[in-house]
Amino acid sequence: MRLHIFLSYPGPVSAAIEVHGLVKQYGNLSAVGGIDFSVPAGTVFSFLGPNGAGKTTTTEILEGLRRRTSGDVEVLGLDPWTDGAALHRRIGVIPQDFRFFEKITAREAIEYYRALFHTDVDPARLLAQVELLDKIDARFDTLSGGQKQKLGLALALTNNPEICFLDEPTTGLDPHARRAIWAVIRSLKGEGRTVFLTTHYLEEAELLADRVAIIHHGKIIAAGTPAEIIRANGRPERIEVAGPPELATYLEQHLDRPVAVENGRVSVELADKSDALKILGAIEASGLPWDSFQTSRDTLEDVFVRLVGQMDDGALKQETPR
Ligand SMILES: Nc1ncnc2c1ncn2[C@@H]1O[C@H](COP(=O)(O)OP(=O)(O)OP(=O)(O)O)[C@@H](O)[C@H]1O
Ligand SMILES: [Mg+2]
Repeated sequence: MRLHIFLSYPGPVSAAIEVHGLVKQYGNLSAVGGIDFSVPAGTVFSFLGPNGAGKTTTTEILEGLRRRTSGDVEVLGLDPWTDGAALHRRIGVIPQDFRFFEKITAREAIEYYRALFHTDVDPARLLAQVELLDKIDARFDTLSGGQKQKLGLALALTNNPEICFLDEPTTGLDPHARRAIWAVIRSLKGEGRTVFLTTHYLEEAELLADRVAIIHHGKIIAAGTPAEIIRANGRPERIEVAGPPELATYLEQHLDRPVAVENGRVSVELADKSDALKILGAIEASGLPWDSFQTSRDTLEDVFVRLVGQMDDGALKQETPR
C-alpha cells in the first residue's frame, strides 16, 4: 500500500507567534508600551485598535521590517529582526496601503514574486483564488482600490506562507469584495496556515478570528476569543420594544431591574431566558402602545467602543487639572 502524505508547507510549531514585553519607542513616543500575546499555529488572530494604537508598528516588528526597542519576539521560532531573511521565505505580507509598480500587470506581479521566492505557483490559479482572474492582464494603475488589495493578497500567498500578515486587507472594499477576502482568509485557516489580521471592521474580527487583542495607546486592553471579550465586558442581553417613556417608568415599577430608554426604544435586561415571558407580560399589561419587539446583545464593536471610550475618558480625567 502506498501512503500519500501531502503537506502544503513545513510542519507547524505550537505557537506561531510569541511576544513578551514588546516595546517600541519613536523618540519620546511609546508607540508600543510593553505588550504580551501569543498566536497558536493554524489560527486566525485579529489585532484591533483605534488609529495610532500601535497595530502596524507591532505587525511590522513581527514581520522583521521594524526594529523593536526591547522585549522578546519569536515568529515561527525565529527572531524577526536578526533572522529576517529566513523568516521572509516563510511568511506572506500585505502592508497597510499596499502599492506596486504602476505599469506591471497582475500576472507579471505574481511572476516577479515567483522569481523572488523561487516558487512555481500558477498566476491564474492564485488570481482565481482571490477572484481577480478577469484582471490577469490589467496593469496595476488601472485596478480599483479593492482589486489592488486582492492582488496584494495574491502576492502575499505566492510563497505558500505559513503565516499571513494582513494589515487592513479589506479597508475600502465593497461588501461583496470584503466577503471574497473573508472566504480566502477562511480557506487559509482551513489549509492550516496562521493569519494575523488587523482591521477596523469589528464584525469581520468577530466572524473570522479565533482570538483577538485590542490595543490602545500601545497597551493591550482586552484579549481573548470574541465571545470571552463580549462576556467579560458587554452588557447583559436585553429585550427591546419601541414605546413611550411612560412604558419605561411602568416597567421600572413592576420589574425589579434597570430599564433604559434610547432613541424611542425601551430596553430591559434579561436575567435568563425564562425572564423574557415575564417582561413581555409586563409590557402587555401596561396597556401602553408598543411595537417592534427584538432581543439585542452586545457585539464586539459595542464592547470595543465602550472599552476605548472608557480609557479615553479616564485619560481625560487624569489630564484635567483640579
Ligand atoms: N516611523 C515612525 N516615526 C514616528 N512615529 C511613528 C512612526 N510610525 C508610527 N508612528 C507613531 O506610532 C503610533 C502608532 O502608529 P501605528 O502606525 O502603529 O498605528 P496603527 O494602530 O497601525 O494605526 P492605524 O489604524 O491608523 O493604521 C502613532 O502615534 C504614530 O504616529
Ligand atoms: Mg496601521
